[in-house]
Amino acid sequence: MRLSTQSIWTVLVHLSAFALQAHAIDVDINSESSLKSAASEATYGAFKWYYGNETGQIPGAFPDKWWEGSQLFAAALNYWHLSGDTTYNEEVSMGLQWQGGDKGDYMPSNYSSYLGNDDQMFWGLAAMSAAEMKFPDRSSGYSWLSLAQGVFNTQKARWDTTSCGGGLRWQIFVYQAGYTMKNSVSNGGFFQLAARLARYTDDNEYLTWAEKIWDWSVSSPLVNNQTWNVADSTQCADDCANAGNVQWTYNYGAYLMGAAYLYNYTSDSKWLDATNGLLQKMSTTFFPHGNIIEDITCEPREICNNNEILFKGLTSQWLAYVALLVPSTADTIWPKLQSSGTAAAASCTGHNNNTCGVRWYQSKYDGWTGMEEQISVSQVFSANLLKYGNGVGPVTSKTGGDSKSNPNAGEGVTDSKPTYKPITGGDKAGASILTIGFVGGWIVIMVFMILGA
Ligand SMILES: *[C@@H]1O[C@H](CO)[C@@H](O)[C@H](O)[C@H]1NC(C)=O
Ligand SMILES: *[C@@H]1O[C@H](CO)[C@@H](O)[C@H](O)[C@H]1NC(C)=O
Ligand SMILES: *[C@@H]1O[C@H](CO)[C@@H](O)[C@H](O)[C@H]1NC(C)=O
Ligand SMILES: *[C@@H]1O[C@H](CO)[C@@H](O)[C@H](O)[C@H]1NC(C)=O
Ligand SMILES: *[C@@H]1O[C@H](CO)[C@@H](O)[C@H](O)[C@H]1NC(C)=O
Repeated sequence: MRLSTQSIWTVLVHLSAFALQAHAIDVDINSESSLKSAASEATYGAFKWYYGNETGQIPGAFPDKWWEGSQLFAAALNYWHLSGDTTYNEEVSMGLQWQGGDKGDYMPSNYSSYLGNDDQMFWGLAAMSAAEMKFPDRSSGYSWLSLAQGVFNTQKARWDTTSCGGGLRWQIFVYQAGYTMKNSVSNGGFFQLAARLARYTDDNEYLTWAEKIWDWSVSSPLVNNQTWNVADSTQCADDCANAGNVQWTYNYGAYLMGAAYLYNYTSDSKWLDATNGLLQKMSTTFFPHGNIIEDITCEPREICNNNEILFKGLTSQWLAYVALLVPSTADTIWPKLQSSGTAAAASCTGHNNNTCGVRWYQSKYDGWTGMEEQISVSQVFSANLLKYGNGVGPVTSKTGGDSKSNPNAGEGVTDSKPTYKPITGGDKAGASILTIGFVGGWIVIMVFMILGA
């Protein structure tokens, strides 16, 4: 058979297309088994960056980015829960336990001198998920539920009425740059934690706190209960008179998930209104490219830092749970998660090893590589898998949840003062890297928003 130049060319094009396809994550978003294998690939890629289970390493430790460990483990919990694959369970269980620290409240002394309320909260939510998924408590150590309660108790003690009539500050310690601010994710995350503890334990104290955090949030410029806009942060100096309006998926998601839990738990229409309002505003804000989720503040200019790369993955997961907890939202949410999952898979053609990128809406690999990218994609695949979970939602202590409760867990409500251990060179470096990263990024974004306005 003779081949013309033309047909040789065609064959080459097909071969190279085939070669590329062989290194993409192929996902049929309507197939449970396809989603499972895609989630397996992405989660494997995420754990390639984890060394905490190796000899001489510390379980769950992520030097210079401690909070991100909570997201690796949260993604792994979702993956296990919905696929049945136990590959990472022991590492997750060890890490989630170890970082609970001496008091069981995710203030481990190696990190506690510089971690913020949001960092601690995210570990608390991961532990809460473990309890709600019936991830087995360890035979010794802290139960998952008590770890979440430990975070709740320490944060409750930090509720700050010295400015703005209440609210949690972003940072815990005066020497941290974010101490002068109150922000949405810390308060929205605390609200969500309280809501989930209320539903799980049926203990009224958590419901009372969820309402208190919510009422304060809507009375501040952070959450607007008419337009459902969620701003990022506000300053204590002028008593939270105003807020910038930087938009992040996870700020909305934190409050949305809390409202959905409370509606599921109380059937109070107030929470349905909040759920619908926030979801509607998210729909018109974060999906400028069809139904594909996008952190619009950083993606178009490719200025997302590692924290920000995680936001839309964890928000996707929250959206999936909202669809389950408040079934009337399902028709709005699933098409978005399906388009996002399909686009995310198309971004996973990097390095000939299924490395995933940041900008899912481009539906191709965009050159970024990291644990954060892998975690986000794992999360959006698991989010889609929840549709095949036969409606099995987060359990409560009345529906099979058996994680042990300790309402007094954590450092205790009276002593929230840090013990100022001598800061080592390593701590300082870590703290200043974090601070420079956060504050620097924040300033860049504020300048960008101001100039752009
Ligand atoms: C894929 O390749 C990149 C670049 O070499 C590497 O950083 C990453 O860990 C690899 N991922 C997997 C799953 O092997
Ligand atoms: C750590 O976990 C990874 C992946 O989860 C696994 O491949 C590796 O064998 C584990 N290492 C040890 C020392 O257990
Ligand atoms: C804190 O650091 C010490 C020394 O490196 C280590 O042994 C310990 O496991 C760490 N604890 C946590 C919770 O990371
Ligand atoms: C909205 O928030 C304000 C507090 O700023 C409150 O007075 C009002 O009742 C809230 N409206 C609804 C519908 O919850
Ligand atoms: C509460 O959530 C469960 C899923 O966990 C769902 O089956 C149920 O319909 C929800 N209840 C209400 C009142 O929406």
